[in-house]
Amino acid sequence: MSTIAIIIGGAVGALVFIAVIIGFIWLYKSCKNFSRRNSDTGSSDPSALMEWNKGAGPSSSAGPQGARQFRLEELEQATKQFADSNLIGFGSFGPVYKGWIHDNVVAIKRHSGLPREVFVAGVIYLSEIRHRNLVTLLGYCQESGSHMLVYECIPNGSMCNHLYDTGREAPTRLEFKQRLSIALGAARGLCHLHSLKPPLIHKNFKTANVLVDENFTAKVADAGIVMLLEKIEEAGPSHSSNINVFRDPEVEALGSFTEMSDVYGFGVFLLELITGREEAVHIDYLRSNESLIQMVQSRLNSNEFVDRRLVGSFTMDGIKDLIKLTLKCMCFPGKRRPNMNMVLVELERIHEKEMELTTVRGEGTSKITLGSELFASK
Ligand SMILES: *[C@@H]1O[C@H](CO)[C@@H](O)[C@H](O)[C@H]1NC(C)=O
Ligand SMILES: *[C@@H]1O[C@H](CO)[C@@H](O)[C@H](O)[C@H]1NC(C)=O
Ligand SMILES: *[C@@H]1O[C@H](CO)[C@@H](O)[C@H](O)[C@H]1NC(C)=O
Repeated sequence: MSTIAIIIGGAVGALVFIAVIIGFIWLYKSCKNFSRRNSDTGSSDPSALMEWNKGAGPSSSAGPQGARQFRLEELEQATKQFADSNLIGFGSFGPVYKGWIHDNVVAIKRHSGLPREVFVAGVIYLSEIRHRNLVTLLGYCQESGSHMLVYECIPNGSMCNHLYDTGREAPTRLEFKQRLSIALGAARGLCHLHSLKPPLIHKNFKTANVLVDENFTAKVADAGIVMLLEKIEEAGPSHSSNINVFRDPEVEALGSFTEMSDVYGFGVFLLELITGREEAVHIDYLRSNESLIQMVQSRLNSNEFVDRRLVGSFTMDGIKDLIKLTLKCMCFPGKRRPNMNMVLVELERIHEKEMELTTVRGEGTSKITLGSELFASK
């Protein structure tokens, strides 16, 4: 009896020993692979990458698409030494320059600060997130006291230029169906961010960060930039004092961002698609729930709510459903808002119905009658 026990015990012991050895060999090999991969991407500090990727980042299948490290000379050449003539805007990361690298047009964002490993790790993480409705991060550079991010350039720019009267050029006349499909694209981009494990909360979704290409396909810009800034700024992100209408009031109250705060920002974006106006003007209304609904109702009655450029290009059902969805996205408490997936499904339904109603019946008459109901006193 006891000899059998000894034999079994010995066999089990041997198996455990072999398993432990195999485990060590595997661990050693994967560590070697990890550090080699890391130095290829320009990071010499694996802990920074591990810290960033804690809880598994997006698919590791990004392969050769990963972030490229650019040299400063390359970016200086691309932008003619960061010439003012190539300055195309200012974002949360700093000035944005247009540049040409091997005939490709890129947008370069520049932020001052000392080189940080955590910046490289963050860029690698963000550049692996690829989606048709997100602006792609191509690479980075950190030299001469600056962090630089290189993005693909989206030819037709931000939706602000197409919606508001910026004074520079006549805003594009985007009809209702086009606005719906732009909203759909932006919703898909946000949905993708929220579907990552862990979810990536945009934290700065606004009309200015919805860019459109030459076919008016929406691409969400600046995903993860707030997180990147939080990581590289020792003093913490500088809290801008200017009021941001896209910022969910609950963020201040609860002290943290959630997916639902992105949904709130998306609601303000929908509101601007409907009104065609910069809603910053109505900040007081947007900050409290009851008055938002009151404002919408009073403006609906006085025919001042829906963008007049939309007259004749929408159905009553379509615009009403979109207004309802907007109010749901901006309701309080945030827990009662639909998540981005539900917003996307509803937008798809509204868009499909609108396409059906306006194309089957043909352009013209029926739409104009329906649309003009909202503008009866015109
Ligand atoms: C947008 O793209 C179209 C081509 O699809 C072009 O004609 C138009 O000028 C562009 N508008 C802006 C504001 O860039
Ligand atoms: C825009 O649409 C045209 C025609 O459908 C297509 O050939 C082109 O590739 C599209 N451009 C982009 C950037 O998707
Ligand atoms: C919104 O209304 C709900 C009840 O309807 C209330 O509990 C909540 O405090 C209100 N929030 C704000 C920001 O006014």
